[in-house]
Amino acid sequence: MKKKLRWTIIIIVAAFVIMQFFRPDRTNPPVNPADSIEADSTVPAPVRSILRTSCYDCHSNETVWPWYSSIAPSSWLVADDVHTGRRHLNFSLWEKYPLSRKVAKLSGIFDQVSKGDMPLGKYLYLHPNARLTPAERDTLLNWTQDENDRLTGN
Ligand code: HEC
Repeated sequence: MKKKLRWTIIIIVAAFVIMQFFRPDRTNPPVNPADSIEADSTVPAPVRSILRTSCYDCHSNETVWPWYSSIAPSSWLVADDVHTGRRHLNFSLWEKYPLSRKVAKLSGIFDQVSKGDMPLGKYLYLHPNARLTPAERDTLLNWTQDENDRLTGN
């Protein structure tokens, strides 16, 4: 019985060590300031600040990688959220999006934020300051509508 327990522990430790060799890509691609949403002078300062605090870790090339993103298996989960998040919406590349894509993403932001689906709930456990206050949520939602009207000329 004792022998079995010892082997179980050895196998768990070995598996953990082996996992550490599979390191996900945790790079931040270079940011060209002219491509970033911050190059758009019509974006109000409070909106910029909300995006930075609550969205940039997964939706920009300026991710602040937390310590647990260095250790498998949490590293795989964090990197997956960042890569998927960037692919869907990347504020560092916003100015390169064609008009139709910007309009679609603005309505996506409205949907996700008004439903409370973004920022991701699991992220908020470890980043409580990223949780949107009701006032921040309204600021963000109003901006998506104003920006949509501005872009579509309404
Ligand atoms: C912890 C990472 C993370 C954070 C923080 C985060 N998102 Fe996301 N977001 C994702 C991922 C991953 C997806 C891809 C879809 C999914 O898995 O639900 C996504 C999808 C989206 C989409 C859908 C994009 C599309 O293709 O239409 C929108 C819009 C969005 N996020 C907006 C936001 C906004 C706005 C914030 C900040 C208030 C935010 N997200 C914060 C990870 C994140």
